[in-house]
Amino acid sequence: MIELKRLTKQYGKSGMLTTALSELDLSIEKGEIFGVIGHSGAGKSTLIRCINLLERPTSGEVWVNGVNLTALNNKRLQGERRKIGMIFQHFNLLSSATVFDNIAFPLRLIKTSKAKIERKVNELLALVGLEAHRNKYPSQLSGGQKQRVGIARALASDPEVLLCDEATSALDPQTTESILKLLLDINKRFNLTIVLITHEMHVIQSICDRVAVIHQGGIVEQGPVAEVFLKPKHEVTKEFVRNETDSEEALKLATYAPYIGSFRAAKITFLGSKTYESTLSQTVRETGVAFAILQGTISTIKDTPYGQLIVRFEGKMPAIDLTIQRLQEQGLDVEVMG
Ligand SMILES: Nc1ncnc2c1ncn2[C@@H]1O[C@H](COP(=O)(O)OP(=O)(O)O)[C@@H](O)[C@H]1O
Ligand SMILES: [Mg+2]
Repeated sequence: MIELKRLTKQYGKSGMLTTALSELDLSIEKGEIFGVIGHSGAGKSTLIRCINLLERPTSGEVWVNGVNLTALNNKRLQGERRKIGMIFQHFNLLSSATVFDNIAFPLRLIKTSKAKIERKVNELLALVGLEAHRNKYPSQLSGGQKQRVGIARALASDPEVLLCDEATSALDPQTTESILKLLLDINKRFNLTIVLITHEMHVIQSICDRVAVIHQGGIVEQGPVAEVFLKPKHEVTKEFVRNETDSEEALKLATYAPYIGSFRAAKITFLGSKTYESTLSQTVRETGVAFAILQGTISTIKDTPYGQLIVRFEGKMPAIDLTIQRLQEQGLDVEVMG
């Protein structure tokens, strides 16, 4: 659906060059919600603006839906761009136009008939839940409502792709959730491909199918969200997902708390409906070791429950090792920490 090939973008003139993207390759499937996460200055905005050629790459190719956008003349590019909607962190609405007129704007640009505009905008107002606000001006709206207008406007030309550049970064947590829910709903309803740029892992975790981590203008890691989130490999990814189950902290805790005999601390990761509890209690009953849960997080990635527990097994070392081996044999992801 979207293919970026050896994409390089440099700003400035020779002698003062900033390389924002460097030979970057990326492939995004139709209908997926693809997240790109990175720190400030990593190249996220440049990347997303290169997809619709708001920013022209210095070299490399951008393919959307089988069309090489980088090879098109301006007129054909205009046409292809209509199939790519975009929303922004600061909404970019016309302050002197009403909600209705903001949404109608792209339709007027392509000389859509009045009747058709009326019908389409009403549809979009209903979709984003702003029917009651059609005649208001942006200054009369909350941040969340402004972004809903942004989304409706982006959808006016029935795009196949929606690009979101930090679309929830200016919103409070609750509003962020409601906007993310709306994006997910739109993705499902229209099989719309969504590319979402953010510096917040929870945004990725809540709606993305796959994620790429961008660092210094290159992708350093990518994969299904659950995989990247639960087993981060690159240092930058680890920074983003570092959460309550910090291994070092947990290990300290494991050593401080009183225990009998010897112990091992282990991290148990589970994903999906697999119940770790019964497997765990059944296994320790058989091997005769005791265990204590020192820390646990249980959350969801998109619709999938997952969790990480820090467990301390106590007893005789051979029995502990046997316990861990048996848990692994039963498909539990157990990582020994010390
Ligand atoms: N218009 C520009 N002119 C010069 N340098 C730019 C411009 N836009 C971005 N950059 C530089 O390119 C790099 C990547 O920026 P950007 O894509 O905005 O990153 P992000 O969105 O991840 O914060 C940064 O070093 C930034 O300073
Ligand atoms: Mg940016």
